[in-house]
Amino acid sequence: MVDYMDKVTASAPGKIILFGEHSVVYGKPAIAASIDTRTFIEAERLEEDRIKIEANDIKVPGLTLSFKEDQIFMEADYGKAAEILGYVKKAVDLVLKETDVDTGISLSISSDIPVGAGLGSSAAVANATIASVSELLGINLTNREIGELGHETELSVQGNSSGIDPMVQAIGGLIYYKDGNFKQIPFRKLPIVLGYTGSKGNTGKLVEEVKKRLEEDPEVMEPIVKSMGNLVDQSRESLEGKFDSEKLGRLMNINHGLLSALGVSTKELSDLVYATRTAGALGSKLTGAGGGGCMYAYCPGRCDEVSTAIEVAGGTPISTKIAKEGVRIEKRE
Ligand code: PMV
Repeated sequence: MVDYMDKVTASAPGKIILFGEHSVVYGKPAIAASIDTRTFIEAERLEEDRIKIEANDIKVPGLTLSFKEDQIFMEADYGKAAEILGYVKKAVDLVLKETDVDTGISLSISSDIPVGAGLGSSAAVANATIASVSELLGINLTNREIGELGHETELSVQGNSSGIDPMVQAIGGLIYYKDGNFKQIPFRKLPIVLGYTGSKGNTGKLVEEVKKRLEEDPEVMEPIVKSMGNLVDQSRESLEGKFDSEKLGRLMNINHGLLSALGVSTKELSDLVYATRTAGALGSKLTGAGGGGCMYAYCPGRCDEVSTAIEVAGGTPISTKIAKEGVRIEKRE
């Protein structure tokens, strides 16, 4: 007999890509980390046969208030909020395909991960949905299987994706990812501060642009992608073997330079990257697809100064930690 609950809450962390974004699309390795900013999804069985999704508290940046006489005008990017709901719907469909149980489901989302900042808000929503709904219906999934279904959700909603986001966010900690396979890297705290530029590039479009540049000038661009792969392997050695913070910082700086050469950095991102280095970060680079979004600075002993530098340079500092845990069940009722 299937033992299922009435209500389950699951959560999933956000992520940053430490090294190797874009080159990972070309079969090179990348290293990603979960961050301790999480999305929570409460899934409840409904008598009625329908799927209801409630977005209670999702951080959609870019909310603008303007005042005129006694009126207040509010603008927000509801497109981004609606996009998130597409991931929930697809994730529910994928879990329902695994069972004969016929039930309505009500889902309620609350998230601390800003939507559209490149911190994995969509993969977190997909993963937490898959975890809560499968648990609700008595389907046992490992974190790895949750990450795989999260990847399927991403492929269906956004098209091209290496799958690194849903996998690291399902597993937690740090992972070395290559061609759909991954290996966990021993957990490290790594003091970092994120800097948000206030806008986000379109991942699919940026991936396409890089592809075009590779096709136009393969002799120049291919060695850049190859070098990115090499620096990821060197970073892994620094993380797993004899820890070398200076080298790690240097490799971050090189990775940012190579991403700029691929054409995915922006002035806003690079301003934050250079400001944090001046403030004492050992290394800093954009993280994720680029074209806006976030950068991160690795700043042992200098994180306060680095946060201030991000603010002065026009960005929003986000303090966070590397999260040890991936997807987890918070509550069963
Ligand atoms: O936009 P993000 O933060 O999900 O990062 C995308 C990372 C890429 O390597 C550019 C694409 C991918 O699918 O790996």
